[in-house]
Amino acid sequence: MNPLISPSMLSADFCHLAKDIQMVNESAADWFHLDIMDGVFVPNISYGMPLVKAIRSQAEKPLDVHLMIVQPERYVERFKEMGADILTVHWEACTHLHRTIYQIKNADMLAGVALNPHTPVAGLEDVINDVDMVLIMSVNPGFGGQRFIERSLHRVAELKEMIRRNKSECLIEVDGGVDLSNAQALVDAGADVLVAGSAIFSKENPKEIISQLKNVK
Ligand code: DX5
Ligand code: ZN
Repeated sequence: MNPLISPSMLSADFCHLAKDIQMVNESAADWFHLDIMDGVFVPNISYGMPLVKAIRSQAEKPLDVHLMIVQPERYVERFKEMGADILTVHWEACTHLHRTIYQIKNADMLAGVALNPHTPVAGLEDVINDVDMVLIMSVNPGFGGQRFIERSLHRVAELKEMIRRNKSECLIEVDGGVDLSNAQALVDAGADVLVAGSAIFSKENPKEIISQLKNVK
């Protein structure tokens, strides 16, 4: 099956954001991926509520919001108000992950859980029938444009097997260093959603790259 494509707006041109939003609207992309960083959970600060709201006002596709923040449960309802459709929190940032998953679902969003590259996939088994999506980080979170960690392919395959074993319907999203050189292998391993930032926005013809990523089977 063709993957869903979620361009990461972290790599967009913030001086001409409307143009890049329009490009994604017109492209074969499925979602907008928005990276929220707090400078505590990750060593970088990206952007916050006003930008999410602004993108929502122009975007014609769902907003896939990736929270790289501590205590994400404090902001679930705010992100819903700002227009998030899918809200992903980090496994490492949640003391009461099961509760936070249901907080997101009760706020009428799809609930995602992200794993850092070192976090054992096996730690998800007890919530795999509760989450709507698992995000496998294929770089250490915090920055766009980093190199893909090869081991992520095994992690995607391991997660896919866990999903099958538990008859879960959860999607697998992969984020970090995704490009045309690894997209096929990721889909073969079981990825359902590909996030890509620099691979799309650094190119002359981003729409064409999105189509090529989308056409991977
Ligand atoms: C990294 C972010 C990613 C990032 C992806 O912490 O979660 O979404 O923007 O950017 P690329 O595709 O350039 O690695
Ligand atoms: Zn992300």
